[in-house]
Amino acid sequence: MDTDTPRNDQHTTAGRYRGSPAELYERHFVPKIGLPCAELLVDAARPAAGERIIDVACGTGVATRLAAERVGPDGKVAGVDGHPGMLAVAQTSSDRPIEWRHASADGLPYGDDSFDVALCSLGLQFFADKIRALSEMRRVVVNGGRLAVGVPGPIPPMMQDLHDALIPHVGVEVAAFVQAVFVLDDPDRLAALCHTAGWGDASVETHSLILELDPPADFLWQYLLGTPLAAATADLDLDEQRNLEADVVKRWRQYETTDGSEMTIDLHIAVA
Ligand SMILES: C[S@@+](CC[C@H](N)C(=O)[O-])C[C@H]1O[C@@H](n2cnc3c(N)ncnc32)[C@H](O)[C@@H]1O
Repeated sequence: MDTDTPRNDQHTTAGRYRGSPAELYERHFVPKIGLPCAELLVDAARPAAGERIIDVACGTGVATRLAAERVGPDGKVAGVDGHPGMLAVAQTSSDRPIEWRHASADGLPYGDDSFDVALCSLGLQFFADKIRALSEMRRVVVNGGRLAVGVPGPIPPMMQDLHDALIPHVGVEVAAFVQAVFVLDDPDRLAALCHTAGWGDASVETHSLILELDPPADFLWQYLLGTPLAAATADLDLDEQRNLEADVVKRWRQYETTDGSEMTIDLHIAVA
């Protein structure tokens, strides 16, 4: 998510979406997708007033902010992410005293037993070493503390269509990001990862969420320009943008509603 304002024109759909990828993520992805997922995750973690919570791969901080509301002024909340741009937006998104730290999930910058609860919303699927990251969360949480991890999957037809449509425009490797989001789609594997990392027996519940999105052309650019796909898609010239948009919108007609589009996703939440 390192590209800044996309190179585009105000008369194209893409041109409506100006700002850094992290800003666009917070403005568009979070209200429609990140927030409903984070609400379920934080509910599952049952944070209590005064508890200490770490949110790993906090992004722009949607789950972190919800956690801070739950623990109140006597609690302590930290958000850790590996991307400085996401943290920069997180820092401006809350007036609560949240500690934002730039670090990898592989090496959390806290001592043993520093927290009561670890959260991780829509992040674990991206970690190269998932067991190490979950072990780090276990290390910084006290004995008897709790973990809540949320991952999406399997890939919904709408995102598979996006993946397939992107290939001729940006190549197989760039398009692969769309599938990578949904790779951790096996609840048994998720529970086994938590167990191996020292969390004991995790229970995994799968929630089906109907996401109300903006119309196809808008959601397309909100997604492309607000994710790591921004680097590849912001460089397309205007004709290339229009061709890509036409291909995706054609495939996404079936998901259109009267005022937007709709996508159903499964969200697996592991609690240990
Ligand atoms: C889809 S976003 C989710 C952000 C946030 N939890 C939310 O629900 O909106 C995934 C986040 O994982 C972060 N991330 C990916 N790999 C990471 C790693 N190894 N260590 C720390 N953060 C990582 C990214 O920087 C990104 O902010």
